[in-house]
Formats: sequence, structure tokens, C-alpha cells
Amino acid sequence: MEKQEIRTFGRRHGKKLSARQQDLITNLLPSLTPENGDILEIGFGAGEHVRELALNNPDKIIIGAEPFMNGVASLLSAITDEKTNRILDEYKNIRIWADDVRDFLRETDSKFEQIWVLHPDPWPKARHEKRRLLSAEFLNTLSKYLTDNGEIIIGTDHWEYFDWILEQIKTTSLSATIPDMKIIQTRYQHKNKAGTNNPKYLIIKH
Ligand SMILES: C[S@@+](CC[C@H](N)C(=O)[O-])C[C@H]1O[C@@H](n2cnc3c(N)ncnc32)[C@H](O)[C@@H]1O
Repeated sequence: MEKQEIRTFGRRHGKKLSARQQDLITNLLPSLTPENGDILEIGFGAGEHVRELALNNPDKIIIGAEPFMNGVASLLSAITDEKTNRILDEYKNIRIWADDVRDFLRETDSKFEQIWVLHPDPWPKARHEKRRLLSAEFLNTLSKYLTDNGEIIIGTDHWEYFDWILEQIKTTSLSATIPDMKIIQTRYQHKNKAGTNNPKYLIIKH
């Protein structure tokens, strides 16, 4: 991957953070910077699913990557005690990369059992298509960070993007299956911007 990459995300900052959120970002976030982990979630939004992964996999290190700082702040608020700002015991296995995941991947030598991407930005306008994160090139890159049996799990309610990802996979040596699965509703899914009311999932393997 080259340094001059096309930006795949929208804004990095939204509405003003609360004093507690700002404090968590300044004083706690640096201590959560990941090195290696077992499960990665890319673009976690407000982090509902990262928390679910942490609770369901207490012995694994869960790394979430998200450049939108209000999302990072939401996750930090949800995993800490309101009075002490300390991480709650059940979330001690969470690490946060508060930036472009591609910068993290350049630094880590982790091999992940799972890499999750839920509701990647669909960039629906044709002129923005190059901003789509899940290109063949990036999927190939991600696959290098999987364990032998590892899987990339993608969910999107934007069916045109879903079909586009399938087309991308065809140009790689990766294999894809379409599972029948249900997971917790993330904030983005709740918005149902694509109007489909129904995410589709893909599992990609070596
Ligand atoms: C449409 S939102 C979905 C958020 C969340 N997964 C959900 O379902 O609510 C897509 C997220 O991916 C993040 N994203 C886009 N490109 C990224 C990248 N290169 N590295 C990490 N996150 C990225 C964006 O900042 C955005 O928060």
C-alpha cells in the first residue's frame, strides 16, 4: 500500500464532544493504541459491534479502527465507568485505532481470526466509486492479515455495493460465501439509509 491513498471515509469530526468524552480521548485513548490482536473491526462507527465482540470473546484482543472521532468518543464513553473514567472489566480486551485502518495495517504483524466491516461507506455516486474501501486490491491486502482459517465478514444494506464487492472478489483468488446470519443492529443500520431494511452478509476466505 502506498501512502498517497484515496480517502475512503467522510468527516473526522462532528458535533462538539462533551467534557468527559474529550477527557477520555486525551487521557485514555493513547493507552488503548493497538499492537497485535485477534479480531479486527474496520469502521466501527459508534462501536456497538466492537463491544459485542469484546463480550463474546473475553480471551481475544479486539481491535476497532475508526477515524471519526465522535464515534471513537461514543465507544470510549460506553466502555468506561461514568465516575472514574476507568475501563469496565468486561471491555478490557478492546483496543482502538482512531484513524485510517490502512495506517494501522502498515504497522502491525497481526494475523486475525476475523476481520469485520459493517456498513462500509457505500459512496453511491459513480464519481466517488474509487473511494469504496472494499476494492479487490484492499480485500487482497486484508487477506494477508488473516490466519489460515481466518475470515473477512462484511455486512451492508446497500445491495448495489454488495454486488459490487462480489464483482471485486471475482478478480481475486479469494472465496466468498453468503451466510444467513443476524447480528446486533448498529447505529448506521438503524438509519436504514439504503431503504432496504435488510443487510446482506459475505464471508471471504483464502
Ligand atoms: C457508514 S459508517 C458505518 C459505521 C458502523 N460500522 C455502523 O454500522 O454503524 C462507515 C464507517 O467506516 C469508517 N471508515 C471509512 N474508511 C475507513 C478506513 N479507511 N479506516 C477505518 N474506518 C473507515 C467511516 O469513518 C465510518 O464511520
